Amino acid sequence: MNSAENPNHIVNWPQATSIVTDRLLLEPLEVHHATEMVETLSSPDLYTYIGGTSPSLPELERLYALQLAGASPTGDAGWLNWIVREANRSTAIGYVQATVTMADTRNQADIAWVIGADHQRRGFATEAARAMIAWLADRQVTELRAAIHPGNESSNRVAERLGMNRPDAIDDGEVIWHAELQTGR
Ligand SMILES: CC(C)(COP(=O)(O)OP(=O)(O)OC[C@H]1O[C@@H](n2cnc3c(N)ncnc32)[C@H](O)[C@@H]1OP(=O)(O)O)[C@@H](O)C(=O)NCCC(=O)NCCS
Repeated sequence: MNSAENPNHIVNWPQATSIVTDRLLLEPLEVHHATEMVETLSSPDLYTYIGGTSPSLPELERLYALQLAGASPTGDAGWLNWIVREANRSTAIGYVQATVTMADTRNQADIAWVIGADHQRRGFATEAARAMIAWLADRQVTELRAAIHPGNESSNRVAERLGMNRPDAIDDGEVIWHAELQTGR
């Protein structure tokens, strides 16, 4: 079945909107966030398992401008990005993201999370990701995936805390966590 035949498919990719949790505000990404995020993302430890290095301000501005396009050039994937802000202190502490694709009859999201070194181990990644997942479920995403390096203990733990299922096998060096979602329909 193609997207024209299945009305539940996301044909026009959803745009990120603000999400509020008990302790956090998830703000749709904007280029100006680079100014505060460059500090949040500065610790080299963040890149041990995800690759890359701490971005400079111009690099981050360029990346955010690209991500704000909202969809891949071929139109087969929608990009959703949120800056995670601690609500009471208004500090930008990290980000969460989802790449949404249509697979057969399902809307699938590949999700990821990064929390700055100074803000870790306070449950923020779990809280932010859980809120993003609820938002995705409200928009007919039925399947979640998270690709995580097997040695990345904290991130694998986040996936587990989110109730995702860990496969027995490693795929191309990564654990591909999976979950089915009940949509908000
Ligand atoms: C993965 C990451 C986002 C977790 O952020 P966080 O806000 O510290 O996560 P939480 O506080 O929600 O912790 C979730 C669980 O992981 C555990 N955890 C956190 N850091 C840990 C560490 N270094 N080692 C082992 N467990 C850890 C927490 O104790 C918690 O488990 P618990 O509920 O049993 O206590 C953060 O470590 C990070 O940004 N890492 C670098 C980027 C990255 O690898 N992102 C993942 C890409 S897939």
